Amino acid sequence: MNGPYTRIDYMQSQRCHAPKIFTLFLEPRYRHSNSLLIMTSETVITFKVTPGKLVTDRQLDLCAHLFSENYGIWGANGPHPKEHIKMSPAKLRSEDLSNPERSALVTCSTDGKLVGHAFASTWEYGSDVIAWISQLVVHKDYRRRRIGTFMIGQLTRYPLFENITVLGLVSCNPIACDVLAKSIHVGIGNIDTKFIADNAFAFLVSSHIPYLKGAKLHGSIFGKKDAAEGVVSTVDTNFAVDHTETDAVLKTYLSQGKWCLGRLPENHEFLIMLPITARCG
Ligand SMILES: CC(C)(COP(=O)(O)OP(=O)(O)OC[C@H]1O[C@@H](n2cnc3c(N)ncnc32)[C@H](O)[C@@H]1OP(=O)(O)O)[C@@H](O)C(=O)NCCC(=O)NCCS
Repeated sequence: MNGPYTRIDYMQSQRCHAPKIFTLFLEPRYRHSNSLLIMTSETVITFKVTPGKLVTDRQLDLCAHLFSENYGIWGANGPHPKEHIKMSPAKLRSEDLSNPERSALVTCSTDGKLVGHAFASTWEYGSDVIAWISQLVVHKDYRRRRIGTFMIGQLTRYPLFENITVLGLVSCNPIACDVLAKSIHVGIGNIDTKFIADNAFAFLVSSHIPYLKGAKLHGSIFGKKDAAEGVVSTVDTNFAVDHTETDAVLKTYLSQGKWCLGRLPENHEFLIMLPITARCG
């Protein structure tokens, strides 16, 4: 849409269906608001972006709890096989808000209960401004309502991120990659893997995030002769999460011909980096 309007997605209740988020266009005066309140006939949904330096210990307690109950379980090679992967508030503060001036937290609450969160950090490399999403989680009972997509959309429209040229994430979950792409209206089947191949090393090494700085790239697009068969764009993060659920999801994406990041070896995560070519609003 042309003109000074900002694109916003909103949630609408539909009889017999879970509420889903739809799209509207906001006037400029609402553009830099850091929280958005949506009311349906059944519930009140609040999306809120908090700049890193203002994130409270109480917020991190709630996020760590949501993560620990809903993220996923350790795989056979993990430290506690079949147990929920736990998160601590201290780890969120030290890893995801390590540069508080350049990071933010987005949360989604319904009727006062936290049901989703994601963190984002930004840094520069040459003329690029990179925004990196981490710890994206939606409560199991609230998935597939576009909450994840909407949270990332809210983050990337926040003033701290308005000049970003690249949006990236590592995840063992293809849905997280899909959410990232959807949040900037890119089809997950149309990822520019050459962009990832050309820039991944420089972008990751220049980051201040420890697990990215040291991550080993693995996949056919990186020109490595020793890349395992079918692996296209991944990083070895030594994260031994159980892949049972995500393998099933991956099969669906593959069967629909919508997946170009290849398969996922144990202890690896998919690497997705998207150039931001046009911003809405
Ligand atoms: C990844 C996660 C945050 C997605 O949140 P969500 O709010 O359910 O995602 P959305 O509703 O925004 O989904 C966006 C799109 O992803 C795809 N998608 C979502 N869930 C899917 C599923 N179960 N199967 C196939 N595609 C799915 C769809 O294309 C969907 O768009 P559509 O509903 O218009 O078809 C959530 O599944 C989650 O918390 N998973 C566990 C934690 C995790 O793996 N986090 C990633 C770490 S970085």
